[in-house]
Amino acid sequence: MTGVPGLFDHGGRGYDALVAANPGYHRHLTRAAHLLDLPGGGAGLHLLDLGCGTGASTRALHRALPAATITAVDGSSRMLDRARRKRWPRTVHFVHADARHLPEAGVHGPFDGILAAYLLRNLPDPDHGLRLLHDLLRPGAPLAVHDYSLPRRLPDRLLWHAICWTVIIPAGGLATGSTDLYRHLWRSALRFDSPPELLARMRRAGLARPRAVPTTGWQRTLTHTFLGTRPHD
Ligand SMILES: C[S@@+](CC[C@H](N)C(=O)[O-])C[C@H]1O[C@@H](n2cnc3c(N)ncnc32)[C@H](O)[C@@H]1O
Repeated sequence: MTGVPGLFDHGGRGYDALVAANPGYHRHLTRAAHLLDLPGGGAGLHLLDLGCGTGASTRALHRALPAATITAVDGSSRMLDRARRKRWPRTVHFVHADARHLPEAGVHGPFDGILAAYLLRNLPDPDHGLRLLHDLLRPGAPLAVHDYSLPRRLPDRLLWHAICWTVIIPAGGLATGSTDLYRHLWRSALRFDSPPELLARMRRAGLARPRAVPTTGWQRTLTHTFLGTRPHD
């Protein structure tokens, strides 16, 4: 696979160890899944985890909504292989596909809820990505986009530079033998939307009641869960 999934094919080797060392990473994903605010532990619901990687966000969805059926999709075959090697109930299914070509891989909506964690920033056209996510939702169903979204304020930008160049990029280089993926993370977050910009993008994609919930800890101003709903027709 080329593009960003190709970067993850090559640089994702130490991914699980690196995210485990990031305080709050798994907790924030689980909270994002809870923020979907779906009833009955997800019983009878079909959820999509788009850009599931090695399954951290899939695990978060399963923890928050243990009775739901989950389709977890990623464009990187190596990330997906790592996810598949973990223990999962029979209600969790993994699919190798590019987010932009889901029907060709047999992934069709409508879904009762979608989590896209650290995906949207990686898509070449986030507007197109959000419209796809909107169209995959059942009317009335929620979307949680969880990602880095740096405010335009200088102190937050400086914090991001400092964390990337003192911790994330050196640790990523040590774990994987290459800093390519982690320099991509640094650059892509700098280029991506601030929270108000992403909320405006969600509105333009037709999502109702968009709102941002900040995380906690060192990344509380840098990482957020963005929530929206596909309106009833
Ligand atoms: C930073 S990882 C996040 C993985 C997981 N959601 C988590 O929270 O740990 C981003 C994932 O998005 C996938 N990805 C990026 N662009 C994609 C695309 N166009 N289609 C499918 N997956 C994509 C990458 O392969 C990678 O596994």
